Amino acid sequence: MEQIERGWDDFWAEVLRVRYRNTLQGIEQYDKMVADFCIEVLHLHSGSKLLDIASGAGDQSIEFAKRGITVTGFDLARSLVTVAQERARQEAVAVNFYQGDMRDMSYNQRFDAAVMLSHSFGFFNHEENKRVLRESHEALVDGGSLLLDLMNPYNLPVFQRTWTKIEGGYLLSEPHVFDAPAGVLRGRSPTFIDVERGVVVLASQDALANSDIRMYTAPEIRSLLEQVGFTKVELYGQNKLPRMPYTVKSDRLVAIATR
Ligand SMILES: C[S@@+](CC[C@H](N)C(=O)[O-])C[C@H]1O[C@@H](n2cnc3c(N)ncnc32)[C@H](O)[C@@H]1O
Repeated sequence: MEQIERGWDDFWAEVLRVRYRNTLQGIEQYDKMVADFCIEVLHLHSGSKLLDIASGAGDQSIEFAKRGITVTGFDLARSLVTVAQERARQEAVAVNFYQGDMRDMSYNQRFDAAVMLSHSFGFFNHEENKRVLRESHEALVDGGSLLLDLMNPYNLPVFQRTWTKIEGGYLLSEPHVFDAPAGVLRGRSPTFIDVERGVVVLASQDALANSDIRMYTAPEIRSLLEQVGFTKVELYGQNKLPRMPYTVKSDRLVAIATR
C-alpha cells in the first residue's frame, strides 16, 4: 500500500479529535460530567463569560453553551474550528470559535473563567508553557479563574498500542513513552489505514509538533501559576464531582488558579 504523510490541521486533527473521539464509549456523558465539575468549581452561571482554550472540535464548549454560558472556543486547528462551528449551528447554540495559537491570545481581561481540558497544557518548552499561562491570566477579569485539567504525573494511564475501527478505516495508536529525565511524555506517530483510498497515512513532522507534553508536578504548576500573577491555587484529584483531594493515586491533577 502507498504510504503518505499528512499534517495536523489538514488531516490528523479531524481524525483524532472527531472520528476517533466519536468511538469512545460514554464520551458525551464524560463531557457533561466535566462541564458540571467546571461549572461548580469555577462558580459559572448563565451569562458567565468562559474561554475554552484548545477547544478542539468544540465538544465541551457546546456543552457549556447549552447551559447558558457565553463561550469563546479557541484552537490552533482551523479544521477543528470549522467542525466546531458547524456543530454549534446544528445544536442551535451560539459559541464564538476562533483559530489561533494559545501562546498569543491577546485577550485583555475579557473572561470570568478559562479552561484547558483533556490535558491541553505543556505542549511547548518551559518558557512557552509559562507564556500560555501568562496569556490566560491576561484574558481573565480580576477575580477570574483558570482551570487546568491534567493527567496526574504520578499515576499516568497505561498507554497501549491499539487498533480502532473509525470512520473510513483503521487507526493504529502507539503508546506515549515517558521520558523521565526530561519530564516529557513523548507522543509517537499514529497510523491510519484509509480503506477507501487504499493508502497508509502517517503523521508528518508538523502533525507531531505538539505530541510531546511536558508533565509538571503540582508544586511546579503552582509555582508557574504564581509566577504569572495568579494569587490562589486549588488542587483537585478528578475532573468530575464530587470534589476530591489531589493525591499520588488521583486520576487527574486539576489546578484552579484565581487572578
Ligand atoms: C487534547 S486536545 C483537547 C481538545 C478539547 N479540549 C477536548 O477536550 O476534546 C488538544 C487541542 O489543542 C489544540 N492545540 C495544539 N496546539 C495549540 C496551540 N498552540 N494553540 C491552540 N490550540 C492548540 C489542538 O488542535 C487540539 O485540538
